[in-house]
Amino acid sequence: MPSPQVDLLVVTAGAAPALDGLDVHRQALRCATIVAPAMTEQGGRCIFLQNTGGDFGHGMTDPAQAEIGGIAALAKTASHEWPKALVRAIDIGAGDPGDEAFVSRIAKEILFGGDLVELGLSPTGGRVTTKLETAPYSGKGIVLADGDLVVVSGGARSITAAVVCRLAQEAKLRFLLLGRSEVADWPEGLPRDLSLQELRSALVARAREAGEDISIKEVSARADHLLAAREVSETISRIREAGSEAVYRAVDITDTGKVDEAIRAFRGSGRIAGLIHGAGVNMDKLIKDKTEDQLRRVYTTKIDGFKALWSAVEADRPAFVSLFSSIAGRFGNPGQSDYAIANEALSRIAWSLQNRYPDMRVTAIDWGGWLGGMVTDAVRRQFEDRGVPLIPIEMGVEAFVLELIAGQGGTPEIVFAGTPEVMLAASNKQRDGHSPSKSAVA
Ligand SMILES: NC(=O)c1ccc[n+]([C@@H]2O[C@H](COP(=O)([O-])OP(=O)(O)OC[C@H]3O[C@@H](n4cnc5c(N)ncnc54)[C@H](OP(=O)(O)O)[C@@H]3O)[C@@H](O)[C@H]2O)c1
Repeated sequence: MPSPQVDLLVVTAGAAPALDGLDVHRQALRCATIVAPAMTEQGGRCIFLQNTGGDFGHGMTDPAQAEIGGIAALAKTASHEWPKALVRAIDIGAGDPGDEAFVSRIAKEILFGGDLVELGLSPTGGRVTTKLETAPYSGKGIVLADGDLVVVSGGARSITAAVVCRLAQEAKLRFLLLGRSEVADWPEGLPRDLSLQELRSALVARAREAGEDISIKEVSARADHLLAAREVSETISRIREAGSEAVYRAVDITDTGKVDEAIRAFRGSGRIAGLIHGAGVNMDKLIKDKTEDQLRRVYTTKIDGFKALWSAVEADRPAFVSLFSSIAGRFGNPGQSDYAIANEALSRIAWSLQNRYPDMRVTAIDWGGWLGGMVTDAVRRQFEDRGVPLIPIEMGVEAFVLELIAGQGGTPEIVFAGTPEVMLAASNKQRDGHSPSKSAVA
């Protein structure tokens, strides 16, 4: 582990062959946490090495190796959090540590490589970086057919639920929705449209009437649970009204066995046609205050959750795999190092799956902030103060559907964020038109 005071720190966890994805990111984040106070106050140089092929995973076919590409997002986040420091991610590809030319190329890049935050040393000798390109819609997307089975993590609540309800109109689909919230009956006699505050008050009043001794914490937990369960049942009703079907299973998607069991029961003798991975959590804190537990919770939901889902559906060769990722991974975001890591790793996995299965439609959408979901009112105000526009729910939903049914294909990472004007242009249903706000990563 590094000393807290260093002028130059090279973090090599991302190049260590023997570590698994979570360990790689845990070690890199630990190094960053130790030097964060000094890097913030005095500056310095911090270089993160990663091995995802020298091109930030764009050519990988192995999801396990692609997963370690979250290191770059840690570097990008640190570069925002430590403005006095020079922070870079260098993707070095595979090489023999005994090969002098290989080692000296890396050393030169570390010492004299300039200040580009994301730089890859391609195996063919070039220096590469990532850039965004506008990605026109093609009109050649996935055709959804009546009866198609679609598995959706996080699909019963929040923005993923909004997407599913819209998708339910495209054909008579059958959805399996996975989330942690247990179903619950709404308390008899209480109106179903109570707000959180109203529900808490009503629960307290009922407890008092019944002579029950109930703590504020218990009331809050009970109210949260009831609202989550209400949301789940409303999503199912909306899907049915739209002409599709849905079953909900309360499953933590990091539990591989339970995910497999739920998908087996849902599939029966059929085949899973599509997988949508929308489940995610965030726990914002600056790198200096980040704990391993926060990283583990954020990372495993996105990545181990995806692995559990994928291992249960891989044999079906689904026609499409759609992943909810984030611009926090693409560009880094102060306070979101673990969230950025997890999303970047997910988007790298998308590249590897698309390369491995060219006939499958794989898309990780690096979303900007939505006007809803995990973007709370306080976070929304922060975005507004910085002049960053948020994605209205209807636009994000439409963008998701367009990407699926009219996206280019072969472009596994799409950034969707921008000003309301360009997003409006993108969502005006020109299914074979051009979208100025959605960009592919090249
Ligand atoms: N909202 C945004 O602005 C934004 C921006 C960029 C990317 N994204 C991504 O979009 C996705 C949805 O975001 P959101 O804003 O709707 O988040 P949210 O409001 O926090 O909802 C998260 C969803 O994930 C489910 N979930 C979380 N952990 C789970 C687990 N271990 N097992 C099963 N389900 C789990 C939750 O259901 P339960 O609580 O019932 O488990 C819920 O349905 C996330 O992946 C997020 O990273 C969102």
